Order: sequence, then structure tokens, then C-alpha cells
Amino acid sequence: MTRPATILEAFGAGKAYPGGVLALDEATLEVGQGETLALIGESGSGKTTLLRMFNRMVEPTRGAIRFCGEAVDEMEPVALRRRIGYVPQQGGLIPHWTVSRNVELVPRLLGAAESERRSKAAATLDLVGLEPDEVGDRYPNQLSGGQRQRVALARALAADPEVVLLDEPFGALDAITRLELRGEFRRLQAETALTALLVTHDLGEALELADRVAVMRQGRILQTGPPREIREHPADDYVAELLSHVDRPSHPEGAG
Ligand SMILES: Nc1ncnc2c1ncn2[C@@H]1O[C@H](COP(=O)(O)OP(=O)(O)OP(=O)(O)O)[C@@H](O)[C@H]1O
Ligand SMILES: [Mg+2]
Repeated sequence: MTRPATILEAFGAGKAYPGGVLALDEATLEVGQGETLALIGESGSGKTTLLRMFNRMVEPTRGAIRFCGEAVDEMEPVALRRRIGYVPQQGGLIPHWTVSRNVELVPRLLGAAESERRSKAAATLDLVGLEPDEVGDRYPNQLSGGQRQRVALARALAADPEVVLLDEPFGALDAITRLELRGEFRRLQAETALTALLVTHDLGEALELADRVAVMRQGRILQTGPPREIREHPADDYVAELLSHVDRPSHPEGAG
């Protein structure tokens, strides 16, 4: 079996903000094609900072970031972002645009014709479990929280990106809706060759959805490995303590 291509790579990546805040101390990780890697860790541990380095929304102050083998600091940010789907922590939908227009954003930037954009938006909404005819002409504030998250996911997927960066995509939702969206995500993983970097502080979610999990604390990655390995062989007391709070996931091993 050949090793899958590496899509995302960080080598000793760090970010110091002026004034001495070390948002990310040092992080090294790889995400392979078709893999979902979850970043978990407490608030302020550097998850969002690391995630946003891959689409150059945060520039590292040390280390290197590569996308498909190429240094991202040598790539044009806009061109890079067209190849990387992104669901920001707050969803990031444009409030005065309809659902369809939001989802068509990147295909439009890529110059797709109107009819092509329309059918792509409909297909993508369908993929995330929404009825295009029902929600396409609504505005984000006319949707439930769960529907908005689905639209944000659809928008990130609409341009057939090589990888998606998901920052707590199911955050701020009730438990039932989260479970439903987890199921939807698993279906996406099965139906598309999804490559994803998923930030979550829901450990159960990370263990259920990810092929590998990276545990972060204070700007560093403490341990990276498949869910079972992390559960059975936590690297230290902190990881063990963190995992002691997780119920066993309903699906025994990652996404595969
Ligand atoms: N623009 C900034 N300027 C200064 N400090 C920042 C900036 N952005 C983030 N930080 C700090 O860097 C640290 C890491 O932030 P980050 O957003 O990466 O955490 P996180 O793990 O995503 O947390 P959460 O789970 O709350 O979203 C925090 O201490 C944060 O206050
Ligand atoms: Mg964050």
C-alpha cells in the first residue's frame, strides 16, 4: 500500500504576538490525504492559531507550513484559500447574502458560470443534508443554528477543496443537533474523499470523527495518534486526565 500524499504539514510552527503572547509555542503535524485529524485542547491552547496558519490567516513567527508540499508563504493567499475550505469558529456566513449566494462564494471567485454555480450550490447543500429549494433563498438569520452550521460546511465544500479546516464546526449547538451533525460528517467522510483538520473541544466528537487526534496544551502538541492509541497509552497525566472525562464513543474507532 502506498502512503497517502501529505496535504498539510507544520514543522516547529510558532506564533508570538507583539507584547509577548505566545499563541503557539511549537507545533509539528501532518495531515494525509483522506484523513481527518482533530485538534483538541482547552481554550487558549493554540488550536485556532495553528489551524489558521494553513490558509495564511495567521503567519507563523517561526517554523514552516506547507500545503501539498509547497511552502504556504510562497503561495498567493487568495489562490491558497480557493484550494482550502474553511469553516471559521463563528460560522462566518455573510448575513445579508442568501444561503445560495453564501455557498456559491468560492465557485463565483473561481469564475464558474451562473448555471454551474447554481447546480453546485444545490448539490453541496444536499450533501450536508439541507433541501436546496427550501433554504436556498433564505438569509442566515432565517435558519436554525444547526442549519447555519450546515450551510457554513456547504460553503467550505462548494469549491471541491483539497482539504477543509473546521474550527469547532458544531460548536454552540444543543447535544442532539451535534450528534446529528456528527452523523452527517461521518457520511461525508464515507461519500467524499474528505481531508480535514477539525478543531473541537468536544473530546467524544474528536474520538468519533478523527482518524488521528492531536492533543494541545499551552501552545504545544502533547501527543498525536489514533483515538484508541491515545486512550490506551496517554503520553502523560494531563492527557490521561483529559480523556478520563470522555464517554466511550458510539463508533469504536475513528472514521475509518
Ligand atoms: N491576535 C492576537 N493577539 C494576541 N494574542 C492572541 C491573538 N490571537 C490569539 N491570541 C492568544 O493566543 C492564545 C491561543 O489562542 P487560540 O485562539 O489559538 O486558542 P484556541 O485553542 O483556539 O482557544 P478556544 O478553544 O477558546 O477557541 C490565547 O492565549 C489567545 O488569547
Ligand atoms: Mg479557537
